[in-house]
Amino acid sequence: MQDAPKVLMVCLGNICRSPTAEAVLRHRAALANCPLQVDSAGTLGFHKGAAPDKRAQQAGVARGYDFSGIHARQVVASDFSDFDLILAADHTNLQDLKALCPPEYQHKLQLMLSFSDRAEQEVPDPYYGSDDGFEQVLDMLEAACDGLIKQLSKNKKCDYTNLGN
Ligand code: 4NP
Repeated sequence: MQDAPKVLMVCLGNICRSPTAEAVLRHRAALANCPLQVDSAGTLGFHKGAAPDKRAQQAGVARGYDFSGIHARQVVASDFSDFDLILAADHTNLQDLKALCPPEYQHKLQLMLSFSDRAEQEVPDPYYGSDDGFEQVLDMLEAACDGLIKQLSKNKKCDYTNLGN
């Protein structure tokens, strides 16, 4: 059997958006019986080893997501060969990844919201904003993760109908 596809979620600090994306995708992939391996990282190493931001955890846990075991790390060179899909929260993160990524792996780089049918292209950084920003991040990431799972389900790798929406 082929290994489950590996998806890396990337933002700046790896304490707000990308750990939330990791928790949301892992949960919703399990619901859809979709075999995925999910991890997250930041383009900056500033918060290395830190647990996700308390506000991100509070908002996510209230929707049923599990952040246990997630600790911030910086993107490393081996990520580009190890992962099948590397999804950036915003255009700046995507540009930073493109600058680091060898040419043969550039095709793995996309925006997280490229799988969403919503109008937004970027997941805005909620770090300096209000609690409301974390709810918006969750709304966007749920749409994007379901879109990704739906795309994979076309290959009969998982069952989108289990998500119930
Ligand atoms: P994230 O949010 O990229 O979604 O994890 C941020 C977290 C921390 C900082 C910036 C963005 N910071 O400047 O420390």
